[in-house]
Amino acid sequence: MIRIVILISGRGSNMASLLAAAASAEMPGRIVGVLANRPDAAGLAAASACGVPSRVVDHRLFASRDQFDAALATAIDCLEPDLVVLAGFMRILGEAFVRRYEGRLLNVHPSLLPAFPGLHTHRRALAEGVRIHGCTVHFVTPDLDHGPIIVQAAVPVLDGDDEATLAARVLAQEHRVYPLAVRWFAEARLRLRDGRVVLDSPQDGAAALIVPNAA
Ligand code: GAR
Repeated sequence: MIRIVILISGRGSNMASLLAAAASAEMPGRIVGVLANRPDAAGLAAASACGVPSRVVDHRLFASRDQFDAALATAIDCLEPDLVVLAGFMRILGEAFVRRYEGRLLNVHPSLLPAFPGLHTHRRALAEGVRIHGCTVHFVTPDLDHGPIIVQAAVPVLDGDDEATLAARVLAQEHRVYPLAVRWFAEARLRLRDGRVVLDSPQDGAAALIVPNAA
């Protein structure tokens, strides 16, 4: 069983999908803690309800990004994780932090990277008129929403979509692919080698999901 720490900033629906996966027999991993950078992160209550220890490292209490990153790393290291999972964690992490967890730090982003890094991905996808949108799970590098891609899920952009309908369609896929990627890591089938993703025997299918009928 690998030890997994999840970092959140808000709602925590991806965290909940990972908690559900970890509770099933299929995932050889245990969520040993949830950390939030905001005391009002709604996901904290959901973590507690599942009996997972949670803690807030409030970024507003630190004078610099480096000091916050150092405090966050200390809180993480207390939990001795094998894997650190960003699940809607909306703080930019500094290079030293990212390097510390290199190869064991994952993120999910609501676009088909490298398109639309940053915020408001669904609004920007609609404004650009793309016909295909989706989400990406990747190893984290010091560049924002960037890094070796593990799995992506693509969904259509439908006529009549607005930001909310498109976000919901993408989020449903985030909840599929993030537990999949974490399970691969927990099974020791997924790793980073020379900056490239190595995935042994992807018997779950290709590391790309096309979801043509996603409503
Ligand atoms: C998710 O859509 C996630 O992909 C996104 O924040 C949302 C968090 O939702 N993350 C990013 O944009 C990271 N760049 P959740 O709190 O319900 O999991």
